[in-house]
Amino acid sequence: MQEVYLGDCLEIMRGLKENSIDMIYLDPPFFTNKRHSLSSRDRCSHYSFNDVWDSYKIYAEYMQSRLIEAKRILKDTGTLFIHCDKSANHILRLVGEDVFGEENFLSEIIWFYKRWSNSANSLTPNHQNILFFSKTKQYKFNKIYSDYSETTNLDQILQKRSRDIHGKAIYAKDLDGNLVSSDEKKGVPLNDVWEIPFLNPKAKERIGYPTQKPILLLDRIIEISTNEGDTILDPFCGSGTTLVAAKLKGRKFVGIDISPEAIDLTKSRLESLVKTESALLNKGRLSYINADEKSLAILSGLDVLPVHRNAGIDALLRRNYLLKPVPIRVQREHETLSEAIGKLSVAALKKGAEIAFLVSTNTMQDLFDLKIENSIVKIIKSPALEINLVIEQQEQSSNNLRNGLVNV
Ligand SMILES: C[S@@+](CC[C@H](N)C(=O)[O-])C[C@H]1O[C@@H](n2cnc3c(N)ncnc32)[C@H](O)[C@@H]1O
Repeated sequence: MQEVYLGDCLEIMRGLKENSIDMIYLDPPFFTNKRHSLSSRDRCSHYSFNDVWDSYKIYAEYMQSRLIEAKRILKDTGTLFIHCDKSANHILRLVGEDVFGEENFLSEIIWFYKRWSNSANSLTPNHQNILFFSKTKQYKFNKIYSDYSETTNLDQILQKRSRDIHGKAIYAKDLDGNLVSSDEKKGVPLNDVWEIPFLNPKAKERIGYPTQKPILLLDRIIEISTNEGDTILDPFCGSGTTLVAAKLKGRKFVGIDISPEAIDLTKSRLESLVKTESALLNKGRLSYINADEKSLAILSGLDVLPVHRNAGIDALLRRNYLLKPVPIRVQREHETLSEAIGKLSVAALKKGAEIAFLVSTNTMQDLFDLKIENSIVKIIKSPALEINLVIEQQEQSSNNLRNGLVNV
């Protein structure tokens, strides 16, 4: 089944067969009381949808009638995910429990992302909520595992767990009292806080539909709740993200939207599938911290802001110089001064800096060979290097003195 319908999802769902869908993901209007609009990157298309309501009761009734239909067409093994944010989280949790039963509310997934925002008088909103329900207790759920956290110690990973007579978790031992190794190191079961990057403005996947969600988020929902060949429904499909994710993962899909532009967009996305991968998810957050601990320790005490995801800059001074940023880099152990200056000056010039500082850490020898008069990079010695140089000078002069005395 690969179908895309134009119309009110209430009407369209009424026409779908009961017990026919394996998973439903809904990303309905969020009760923001705004009209959401955006243009495509080439500015040729303009998309919008209405999210203005007279009262929360009208919104709750609107959602309730659609959830009742959704439940009817869901298989007994099926699950349903409602995407929302703080505007309607409380309303949808109550309405959802009313329709599916409190006992079938499984989790509230927190989709967490980093994003700049100008919420001057409040906290920056960096998450949205996904309410996870099942139709019955016999729901399909695929356990997936994530990497161990940096704080998990090796024993915890390598050794099998069991319980003592008091039910306390202990490392399992064999009859001779030796620790037993765990059979398979799968990782830790996925938890309910998911860090998945928001689509950045330059991502190829971004097509300019307001509130477009990343395919990577849908990937995870699809993986935990369905198998290949299963059928997924998105009754508020917008630009078709769920359907694209479903198609890429070999699932069948049904999409519905009330807006003709959304349906056209969905159809064209399904024809040429584009997905943006996330280096953050593939490599892990730690890979973004380019300055190693040693380098950052050298900068501690300075009024700087560590920088990630930049190959040449470790930190920015909090104050500007000539209204421009002031980048800083710490020379790495196996890096010559010229290499470090090269990396820093390229990165600093790209950021429009007028001055940048390189903290040299190991040798000043090649400094004399460098042509740095016109460079924006100023070199300062790390305290450790300064101390070593002073000690070396002292040793040299006391050697000279001793040699001189001997010569006399
Ligand atoms: C939050 S957006 C969905 C965005 C989508 N998840 C994406 O990644 O592009 C909500 C969508 O619901 C649609 N919509 C609003 N009321 C609807 C209704 N009664 N039936 C079907 N679609 C509706 C809007 O046109 C809009 O595209």
